[in-house]
Amino acid sequence: MMIYLDNAATSYPKPETVINGMVQCMKDYCANPGRGGHALSVASGKAVMEARETISSFFGIKNPLQLSFTKNATEAINVGIKGILKPGDHVISTSMEHNSVVRPLKTLEKESGIEVTFIRCSEFGELDIEDLKKNIKKNTKMIVSTLSSNVNGIIMPVGDIGKVAREKGILFLLDASQGAGTIKIDVEEIGADLLAFPGHKALLGPQGTGGLYVKEGIKINTLIQGGTGSHSENLFQPDFMPDMLESGTVNTPGIIGLSLGIKFIENMGLDILKSNKFALVKRLWEGANEVKQIKLYSKNDIHKNSGIVALNFEGVDSSEVSYVLDKVYGIATRAGLHCAPMAHETIGTRASGLVRFSIGCFNTMEEIDHTIRALEEIGANLK
Ligand code: ALA
Repeated sequence: MMIYLDNAATSYPKPETVINGMVQCMKDYCANPGRGGHALSVASGKAVMEARETISSFFGIKNPLQLSFTKNATEAINVGIKGILKPGDHVISTSMEHNSVVRPLKTLEKESGIEVTFIRCSEFGELDIEDLKKNIKKNTKMIVSTLSSNVNGIIMPVGDIGKVAREKGILFLLDASQGAGTIKIDVEEIGADLLAFPGHKALLGPQGTGGLYVKEGIKINTLIQGGTGSHSENLFQPDFMPDMLESGTVNTPGIIGLSLGIKFIENMGLDILKSNKFALVKRLWEGANEVKQIKLYSKNDIHKNSGIVALNFEGVDSSEVSYVLDKVYGIATRAGLHCAPMAHETIGTRASGLVRFSIGCFNTMEEIDHTIRALEEIGANLK
């Protein structure tokens, strides 16, 4: 049996309720939601609306219609950034971002006259909020920050960022790709004006799902236009949420799966899931710390780690270690740069990459102990 420790890439396995709910949707009512008056279309539309309500409530979003479904967090981030920023605007982000934030920002910087500042974080990826404050300019329109790094799990001070953004009248786009489903998110409490999230990671839904929340009153342009099922007589895109950002048929079974993933988390209790996950992180971190060749890049602190143990064996390429873990020990990890080269630059692993062990809610202590024994053996063989 494989020990799956690549949950930051995609969580696996999925709860039975997610799988069964998606199959039931496909079998029983998966007509096109919002595109017809017949019973199956209405049933499909109702299920999508209920899912929108469940997901919104999970994130503290008061009006579910402000939540649009996307195919992943990358799409949501692109829409949030490119739908709002204009030439002459300045945007602040951090050096711990994933390429889903870095690439759209660098593209806008190169092609659209948008100024971008990436705040350099510490060697563990921690953001100093004073650095962020110092970099605010008159034309700063938006702050984009990850909730937690997908490389080493460091948790960003998003409440502080939201407070600064609110005080200065700057929009705050929160990328919750790593952390949603582990860390409590309330958009109002955090002060997030936009929230992008994927369904397939710790929210336990399927791939091909995600969403973008846009606070009421924010003017956002559409990147894609098309059929919305509403105002078909209009040759222009509707200007109301969520239709304006949901052109084309949505992923109904996927959305149902995502909403069931969230219900699973709610039934288990987010706090319990988080503390169980961190108990495994702590055990793995402490076990790995005993292996003298290992260097750790994650924090052993529940307030600073969303569920990742990032490490290297000194002098050994991360891909080789990940390969051995897979082939010899049946342990799935992800090596390399994790689509986040700037984050690796920040923590000093740009050349080597690192081996990422990302814990999910179905992992067990036995699996972690097996993993520690594997790390000890690899270390012993390097002597
Ligand atoms: N962004 C995903 C990861 O961190 C795919 O692995």
